[in-house]
Amino acid sequence: MREALVRYFEENQRLIEAEALSLLLTQPEPLRLSRRLLEESEAGGPFVTRGMVERMLAVGELTFHAPLLVSPAPTAEAPVGSTPSFRLLSEGFAPGVAGRKPLEAYEGLFHHRYRTVQRWLKGRPDLPNLVSIKELRGREGTASVVGIVREVRITSEKKHTLLALDDETGSVELLLPRDSPATRTTFLLDEVLGLTVSVPRESGRLPIVRSVHRPDIPASRPARPSSGTTRAMFLSDLHIGSRSFLGESWSALAGFLRGEGPDPEVAAEIRHVVVAGDLVDGIGIYPHQERDLAIHDILEQYVELGRRLAELPARLNVIVIPGNHDAVCPAEPQPALPAELAELLPPNVRALGNPSTFSLEGTAVSAYHGRSFDDLIPAIPGASYARPTEVMKGMLSMRHLAPIYGGRTPIAPLPRDGLLIDPVPDIFVTGHAHTFGADRYRGVLLLNASTWQAETEYQRMRNITPIPARAAVVRLSDLSLTALDFSDPGRTAVAA
Ligand SMILES: [Fe+2]
Ligand SMILES: [Fe+2]
Repeated sequence: MREALVRYFEENQRLIEAEALSLLLTQPEPLRLSRRLLEESEAGGPFVTRGMVERMLAVGELTFHAPLLVSPAPTAEAPVGSTPSFRLLSEGFAPGVAGRKPLEAYEGLFHHRYRTVQRWLKGRPDLPNLVSIKELRGREGTASVVGIVREVRITSEKKHTLLALDDETGSVELLLPRDSPATRTTFLLDEVLGLTVSVPRESGRLPIVRSVHRPDIPASRPARPSSGTTRAMFLSDLHIGSRSFLGESWSALAGFLRGEGPDPEVAAEIRHVVVAGDLVDGIGIYPHQERDLAIHDILEQYVELGRRLAELPARLNVIVIPGNHDAVCPAEPQPALPAELAELLPPNVRALGNPSTFSLEGTAVSAYHGRSFDDLIPAIPGASYARPTEVMKGMLSMRHLAPIYGGRTPIAPLPRDGLLIDPVPDIFVTGHAHTFGADRYRGVLLLNASTWQAETEYQRMRNITPIPARAAVVRLSDLSLTALDFSDPGRTAVAA
């Protein structure tokens, strides 16, 4: 945790004093407190002192407290002094909007998004003379702004790009000449980014964009310890209750985890299983879904999910998040399964919200179901459901899971933006695309964790070809990956 905190402050262009760090580490949720510290000291200098931490603790948790939505799992925690096997770092969903008008809440959400990304970008050498949009008027020469993308237009005649950008002080229209390298960026609506611009001397002419800077993640990550053999398995999109659920493949997976497969040594090292949403198929999710269902009652689907998860060895720490097929509010960030559904699952299963970031043996994992692929894939030229990890790289560079508001991904009107990627994980897992993909971006392992549902008529119609019954197994100490293929239940294959 100590290293994770130091890294967190570094990513936010701050240096934390040793004494401030020690004090934070004595608190129950140090990462959450660190984030609050940064939010409350936006205008502060580059150092975080013990005094700043003491002042924050003296004021108490006034506004920012997301209760832990998980009950402690019965699995044994690591002994005191070693790295705990599981720790929740952040959960996108944080209740606290009761009584607020939705429009106000969305305003709060976008302010929080803007201020957070601005804090990440402030002080970067590639954004000199950073000013507000209001201050940009009446200047001339080179300056930088941070803004939220409101509109992108191509002029009909000369094919230049016009970018409308907002911040808390106003709006501005910027010009990207057709031949400018900055036009290579695909600007996404509602993302927050930094731009360097040249403001022409003549009044009435638009400022010209010179370069574009997304918040992104640090180019290099600190070296990881390379000892230890504990592994985690990543799965997604079980779709229990669907006629197309691959029961035999699932039984082969359970057998493998019990050590009955070809690689009992690998199976024995697996301590955690993460499932990235669409746990059940749900009811009424798409037109005529009833034709595809084997279990027509939503509660019964979760009872069956409990049975299927109970086939996995009870020694495993199983973490599940919901997806768009699950019986929780579809607006993101989604809360964890409610207690009445979670209690249908075995006691070694923890239900967290979508998205959630947690530490497994000190390795930070972000799990997001991936609904926003439905908005990002059409918006990014060349992006496809067959290569979701490419889109995940874009999410990391924007430091946001679902920037576009008003598309197919419903966004919850919460006062803080729980879809920002903060902290940066070591492993980033998604599902939803029903394919299997693995890649790396700036030291982060990206996984799209397959599905346990065969192709449905609805997917055929939407041109989605699944790669089902794959499991990604990652050694937590060095992030090395083993891909397992259970699509032919008689024969488990190590795919990569
Ligand atoms: Fe799915
Ligand atoms: Fe999904």
